[in-house]
Amino acid sequence: MTESINAITPDTGQIQRRRTCAIISHPDAGKTTLTEKLLLFGGAIHIAGAVKSNKIRKTATSDWMEIEKQRGISVATSVMGFDYGGRKINILDTPGHQDFAEDTYRTLTAVDSVIIVVDIAKGVETQTRKLMEVCQMRKTPVMIFVNKMDRDGILPFDLLDDLEQELHIPVRPLSWPIEMGPKFKGVYTIYEEKLDLYTPAKQTITESVQFKDVNSPDLEKYIGDNEARQLRADLELIEGVYPTFDVNTYLKGDLAPVFFGSALNNFGVKELLECFIRIAPSPRPVRAEERLIYPEKDPFSGFIFKIHANMDPNHRSCIAFLKICSGRFERNANYKHVRFDKWMKLTSATAFMAQKKETVDEAFAGDIIGLPDTGNFKIGDTLTSGENLHFKGLPSFSPEMFKYIENADPMKTKQLNKGIDQLMDEGVAQLFINQHNGRKIIGTVGQLQFEVIQYRLLHEYGAQCRWEPLSLYKACWIESDSREALENFKKRKFQYIAVDKEGRDVFLADSAYVLQMAQQDFKDIRFHFQSEY
Ligand code: G4P
Repeated sequence: MTESINAITPDTGQIQRRRTCAIISHPDAGKTTLTEKLLLFGGAIHIAGAVKSNKIRKTATSDWMEIEKQRGISVATSVMGFDYGGRKINILDTPGHQDFAEDTYRTLTAVDSVIIVVDIAKGVETQTRKLMEVCQMRKTPVMIFVNKMDRDGILPFDLLDDLEQELHIPVRPLSWPIEMGPKFKGVYTIYEEKLDLYTPAKQTITESVQFKDVNSPDLEKYIGDNEARQLRADLELIEGVYPTFDVNTYLKGDLAPVFFGSALNNFGVKELLECFIRIAPSPRPVRAEERLIYPEKDPFSGFIFKIHANMDPNHRSCIAFLKICSGRFERNANYKHVRFDKWMKLTSATAFMAQKKETVDEAFAGDIIGLPDTGNFKIGDTLTSGENLHFKGLPSFSPEMFKYIENADPMKTKQLNKGIDQLMDEGVAQLFINQHNGRKIIGTVGQLQFEVIQYRLLHEYGAQCRWEPLSLYKACWIESDSREALENFKKRKFQYIAVDKEGRDVFLADSAYVLQMAQQDFKDIRFHFQSEY
């Protein structure tokens, strides 16, 4: 196993050396803390506490303006780039608040691998489960960091079972804890065959004691008789029960290596990072509708996966985040905006190094650059060196909440429609138009978005809207091989048929039962819970 990890040859090319990943977790598991410790190792920051939490403070959940202010902080920390061990690592931050789950799903389309943080006391939580589904859809390789080992929690073997069952992926521990909570002694890093003894140190990086051979009688001296016996037994069990770690299986998204540690105490983080730089993938080929795009072979191309609005009401400006899929980006060069069939000179694109945003002269596949935007971009837009490419795989999921949006100021109809269009392009929420009555329906994943939309329509577009309740269970995208069957279904369910922003047919099911009956009665219709199928 050691060999399979260490055999990876160092990559030296600009693209080959990039590792773009997202750290995801249920709120409070320790994502921000882990990110900060990774940046400390990378020398990108020098003191703990420098990374502002992207977490929405619990006390503020009812005040969305406050939340947006807090989210404003996160623009700076949306992408954090740093160098470590000859690699250029780009960490993409993901909002913890579940009302911004769509943002996180889209961010996952821009990364090549993912680190999942799990709290030892809580195990797998809802948000993590959902995000893992997205990783699996895309076959994104994942590593798991079990955090807060300095606290009592679920027994490690039980936790591994929980991970496998809840995340639907075989796991393989690459480090192993010795006790936990107040008795926590340290971790044994299986792939390096070394023992790191635990020394709580919150503010600085401390060297941990190395220990080579677990079968040596010296082990007892370091961790005690019982612990040494237990560790040997655990390691034997691991070797017997879990598959040998195979890098290629991990790269295919079919096996998740697991690490244990305490981010707050800076423990076990270096081991995770060392393994990450060895096994995490460099930018991978990306599927465009037209063909597969190769990061190194093809000239510049990229897509917009996130648009972040500036909440300053005095000037409407956004940053569009572009993931470079292939080639090299150069400042002042002309690139083609494929949807507009127009060439653009990108003079003030920014790159993200550590927490600084700087004008970028060049960037490479794997990097994320920020483009100042005044309404030119929408999610999924492609920029290329000339070729007409359209990147797939930016799915929308069925929203959880629905409301009719009504015009509250008939003099401002144009402004309202423009505002709705642009906010939907930004990915704030989803728009459906009911084909029966022509009314516009806004679908979101949380109540907050309705407030955000209403406020922004008023302050940025001078338009006023009113919400009307609508009780729906799900919006499903529908299709069929038989045109007749589709038309028949649409006729039978005419009150519940809508189109989305792209003109795709959508069935609005008002209850789980209705949806189930429709699936049963209309066998020729395929019901999809995401827009890409
Ligand atoms: P998040 O981004 O995933 O939401 O989590 P975050 O890093 O903000 O961590 C959530 C809480 O868990 C923080 O405490 C943080 O200090 C704590 N934490 C993180 N890693 C560890 C660990 O290894 N051990 C222990 N015991 N705690 C850990 P807080 O009190 O909510 O915030 P703060 O006042 O410490 O910032």
